[in-house]
Parts: sequence; C-alpha cells; structure tokens
Amino acid sequence: MSDLPAHVLENRRYWDQVADQWVASGERDWRQETPVWGIWRVSEARYSLLPEDMSGLDAIELGCGTGYVSSWMARRGAQVVGIDNSARQLETAQRLADEHGVALTLIHGNAEAVPRPDASFDFAISEYGAAIWCDPRVWIPEAYRLLRPGGQLVFLGNSPLSLVCTPMDGSTLVEHLVRDYFAIDRIDWSELGDDEGGVEFNLPLSGWFKLFREVGFLVEDYLEIQPPPNVSDERFYVTAAWARRYPAEQVWKLRKPPLPS
Ligand SMILES: C[S@@+](CC[C@H](N)C(=O)[O-])C[C@H]1O[C@@H](n2cnc3c(N)ncnc32)[C@H](O)[C@@H]1O
Repeated sequence: MSDLPAHVLENRRYWDQVADQWVASGERDWRQETPVWGIWRVSEARYSLLPEDMSGLDAIELGCGTGYVSSWMARRGAQVVGIDNSARQLETAQRLADEHGVALTLIHGNAEAVPRPDASFDFAISEYGAAIWCDPRVWIPEAYRLLRPGGQLVFLGNSPLSLVCTPMDGSTLVEHLVRDYFAIDRIDWSELGDDEGGVEFNLPLSGWFKLFREVGFLVEDYLEIQPPPNVSDERFYVTAAWARRYPAEQVWKLRKPPLPS
C-alpha cells in the first residue's frame, strides 16, 4: 500500500496515462530559448517570471513535467532539481535533457513532500505543476520549507475566476458563473464519466492570501495574464476572446522573508 494521498495517486495515474500527449509540446518548448508562459505562451520579457541571471542559484521546479522550465533555469546558470509525480513525464524530461546536453536532477516524487532538506533552494517555480495538481495547504508550506530566507516562489495556473466559469463537465469556459466562488477548493475531474481524470486545486483569492500570510510568505506580485493581441484561437478549454476579457490564468510571486540583518 502506498502512503501517498488519494489525489496524488489519482494524478499519478492520470499523468502517466496522458504523458504521450505532452511529448510534442515538451520537445517544442525545450527548443525555445526564451521562456514563454502558460496557455497563451506570453513572453518572459513582459511578465518576468525568472531572474535574468540565475548563476549559482539552486532552483527547483515543483511538478516539472517534461522539464522545459527547468531547462530555461539551467540555461540561465542555475543548478536545477525537477520533481514530478509521473514517471512517464520524467522519461520525456530525461530524454530531452540528454539530447540538449542540459544537466538536471530529476526526482520521481510528490511535490507536497520533497526529499530535500530545509532551506535547500534559492528559487522555486511551478507552471501548472504543483500550482494546480497539489493541495495548496500542503505544497505551499513545503515550498516555504525548501526555500532559503530571501528565496522566491513563483507559480502560474488557472485563475479562480476561470474555475467559476468552467462547466461541470470541464468543457470550454462560459461567460456566466457556474460554480460557487467561495467553494473553490478541490475539483475531482475523475468523477466525470467521460473525462480522463485528475484532481485539481484552487482557492478564492482571499484563501490564497490567508494561506500565504499563515505560512509566512510575502506577496511581491499578482499577475492576471491576457493573451497577446495576435492570438485568437481556443486553447485547451478557453477561447482567446474569453481570456482577453477575463483572467484565465494567474501568477503569484512570493518571497520568504530574508533574515534580519
Ligand atoms: C501540465 S504539467 C506541468 C509541467 C510542465 N510545465 C509541463 O507542461 O510539462 C503537470 C505536471 O504536474 C505533475 N504533478 C501532478 N501532481 C504532482 C505532484 N503531487 N507532485 C509532483 N508533480 C505532480 C504531473 O505529473 C505533470 O507532469
């Protein structure tokens, strides 16, 4: 019997099952020298999710998937650890790291309980990894534990508003509210008959702020991402027209307070 929580086991099953569908986009993003973020592939120049120079930094990607974010950090000079719950996703990440000659340390495990000592990292990031697939009440304190004083956590995922406008069957976002905003928490897609599954998490904005305050993080920035002007298609479950009017994606930039001097 595994002692992993039920949602971690379900997400492992789900991500191992769909990993093949993410190989091509992983290969594309490993070829991408300049980072682009989220479903609209917005530019790093506009949103600045990574420190420009990461020389000498210890960085971790929580839910690294195919590892392209890790590759961008390594190319900026960081020593990078990527942890992911799916062995199949990590197979792609390791193959691409070998092909591109980028050194990454990849761990098969749960980003809610990372097998690394306290204060091991200067920078932690998640793009649709722990950011949406892990329980925030567990992975946010875990990220705090892993960071050194003064370290930064950046994560990107679905906005709470996007979930309120996501139909119960997970189909394309609508322009009216279909879920209770204050009840946003755990969404179990495996309960839908024809869905491939997975358990996702989010919180109302006040819930995120409360959690950060309780854990000890300082909020440095909160971004609501819009598609670039030249984008007009539908991606995954949201149209560009929707996301131009309402925030489909959010980015949090948090800081573990530095030690007093
Ligand atoms: C959409 S991918 C995001 C990663 C990366 N940006 C990418 O697109 O390849 C989501 C990843 O989160 C991972 N994941 C889900 N639950 C996790 C957990 N508890 N611990 C670590 N990784 C997890 C999945 O295995 C999957 O590889």
